[in-house]
Amino acid sequence: MSLEDWTAREPDDLEAVAAEARRWADSAADSPLYRLFALSIAEDPDMLAVLARIPGVPPMNLLLGSVKLHLSAGDPLAAWYPHLAPRPLAPSREAYLALRSHVLETADAVVAQASGRRTQTNETGRAAVLLPWVAAFAGDEPVHAIDVGASAGLNLGLDRFSYRYTWEGGATTLGRGAPTLECEWRGDGPPLSALPMLASRTGIDIHPVDAADPDQAAWLEALVWPEHQDRLERLRAAIETRRDIDVAMIAGDAAQVLAEVEAGLPPGPLVIWHTVALYQAPPEVQERIDAAVVGIARHRRVLRLGMEPVRGLPDVQVRVGPSFDAARTVATAHAHGRWVEPAYP
Ligand SMILES: C[S@@+](CC[C@H](N)C(=O)[O-])C[C@H]1O[C@@H](n2cnc3c(N)ncnc32)[C@H](O)[C@@H]1O
Repeated sequence: MSLEDWTAREPDDLEAVAAEARRWADSAADSPLYRLFALSIAEDPDMLAVLARIPGVPPMNLLLGSVKLHLSAGDPLAAWYPHLAPRPLAPSREAYLALRSHVLETADAVVAQASGRRTQTNETGRAAVLLPWVAAFAGDEPVHAIDVGASAGLNLGLDRFSYRYTWEGGATTLGRGAPTLECEWRGDGPPLSALPMLASRTGIDIHPVDAADPDQAAWLEALVWPEHQDRLERLRAAIETRRDIDVAMIAGDAAQVLAEVEAGLPPGPLVIWHTVALYQAPPEVQERIDAAVVGIARHRRVLRLGMEPVRGLPDVQVRVGPSFDAARTVATAHAHGRWVEPAYP
């Protein structure tokens, strides 16, 4: 769901909220628990009314993230959450009823919590999707990197992580750091032969996350879907790696600060990437970012690499070009980087 979908509807239009909940369920295909929750909420006017009170996008992430953030082992709902239950129960109607009671009994607190948060999931698995294109662009030369919508800037450790790509009939490993990212490359392998070198790392975010702050790190963890313990582990490992690397985090709307940030970098090639971030930005912001990239390309060798959901397409699109909307799709990918399918010309 895009920002426009959410802001375009009337607050009390529960049919529209239900349609959004169903769309969201499609994107949660690899979390059976959340998919069940979203589909059940879509049929439940009381829960839709709670969801409709959450102003941020996507409200389902904010609702379920807020529930997960404050869930304790003693809560009946905890039985379905692997981080709290050693042997979690399989998703069922009972699980939904436990969520329903939990949310309706604490609706004001859950809405207040969800309204004060943003969807800022920082998913390092996406680095495995970016890496082949960053490496091809960089070659042997160090490149500056700007991550637009960087959240906590974890993906700026892209050259410090370890990778294991597998493809039909082959596998390769690169790097020695943590986390290790496993990615299925659905093309001819290997996708790259050496890690790129980053000359500098800059994250731009309208609301940067400080992963060294326990409350903010807890929210990053709460945004990880319950069954995805592997993602939780790599998030924690990436936070550790982040402590050892020098990242300049810039607070601001990328539309306003991108050109200025680039102007402050030393000479050298530049990669500007954004992953599952600009779907949150209205069209005028995206146009201003496009214009900034075009301006930068006049005086610097630059690669703009976007990995974003696109309305009507089931998988995330990886695109290279000055404007994401007009750019060439070079691959489709799993939203958390579990696989990449290159698009051969
Ligand atoms: C869902 S998170 C994804 C974070 C990270 N790119 C990743 O893939 O792990 C989207 C991030 O984009 C940021 N964001 C959205 N619009 C932005 C804008 N106009 N300028 C800068 N950051 C923005 C949000 O604050 C949020 O941290």
